[in-house]
Amino acid sequence: MTDLHVELAGVTLKNPIVVASGTYGFGREYGQFYDLSKLGAICVKGLTLQRREGNPPPRIAETPAGILNSVGLQNPGVDEFIAKELPFLRQYDVKVIVNISGNTPEEYGQMCEKLSEAGVDLIEVNISCPNVKAGGLAYGTRPELAAEVTAVAKAHATAPVMVKLSPNVTDIVTIAKAVEDAGADALSLINTLLGMRIDLRTRRPVLKNNMGGLSGPAVFPVAVRMVYQVRQATRLPILGMGGVASGRDAAELMMAGADAVAVGTACFADAYAPVRTRDELARYLEENDLNARELTNTVRPW
Ligand SMILES: Cc1cc2nc3c(=O)[nH]c(=O)nc-3n(C[C@H](O)[C@H](O)[C@H](O)COP(=O)(O)O)c2cc1C
Repeated sequence: MTDLHVELAGVTLKNPIVVASGTYGFGREYGQFYDLSKLGAICVKGLTLQRREGNPPPRIAETPAGILNSVGLQNPGVDEFIAKELPFLRQYDVKVIVNISGNTPEEYGQMCEKLSEAGVDLIEVNISCPNVKAGGLAYGTRPELAAEVTAVAKAHATAPVMVKLSPNVTDIVTIAKAVEDAGADALSLINTLLGMRIDLRTRRPVLKNNMGGLSGPAVFPVAVRMVYQVRQATRLPILGMGGVASGRDAAELMMAGADAVAVGTACFADAYAPVRTRDELARYLEENDLNARELTNTVRPW
């Protein structure tokens, strides 16, 4: 049996497959299909300090090889998550990553305190949501703001802090380095790419929010490129994501530099996608006589 375990910011995952924030809720629906302990980690829907209703519908649209979403961080708020959802997840032998978004650096700090106290395994600081006006993308596109949020999160967290980077930038390496220098324990990338569709008949944007985030297989080559660039420039562990839908995709993203890989949009088409991806990756590793940790950053650039 291939040794599948990997390390992410000092957290041991039993295999490299994680599910991406916002595509897996809090695990309850998927838990009806299979044992959630099969996964390396579950990254929960993005939380904010207070409950949010999200953006008005329509907020999901299909696109060639992907989807556009403008969900806008609909969530019950961090306190309700800790009270009602975390105990459910704790029934399983799976690491829990909690994704957070704040309107101010102080809000990130407050959430880090609450979640560390609640004993979550890893905090994913989202500075890259394209669907909310305050915070979100603004923090992720400016190195000094990204560093500030990271520093405040680190100052308030005892759990390790992973910062989620936006692909909606000219140079992702500058942001990655700023976040590393500010003390982040790991990086995750990529979030969605800002996109838009228009209905030809009504001339209205398909999404009520006009624009939204593109995800799914369409963004996979962008994810591979960005993980590769960030791997070359920083020493931090990387959770790679963006369009992963198979074990071969996961292997490719690991070769580019990811230590672990999240499956997101693929879960909507096939609830079993993360488990299948894990099994396919295990087979690939076995065929190549590698353990999971030996695959990371093994690309041989020309
Ligand atoms: C419907 C939807 C909701 C999402 N919500 C969040 C979120 O709350 N926080 C976050 O950091 N990323 C969120 N994401 C981004 C995903 O976690 C992931 O970074 C992105 O979709 C790329 O991976 P994928 O192509 O495998 O989906 C969301 C994505 C989708 C499709």
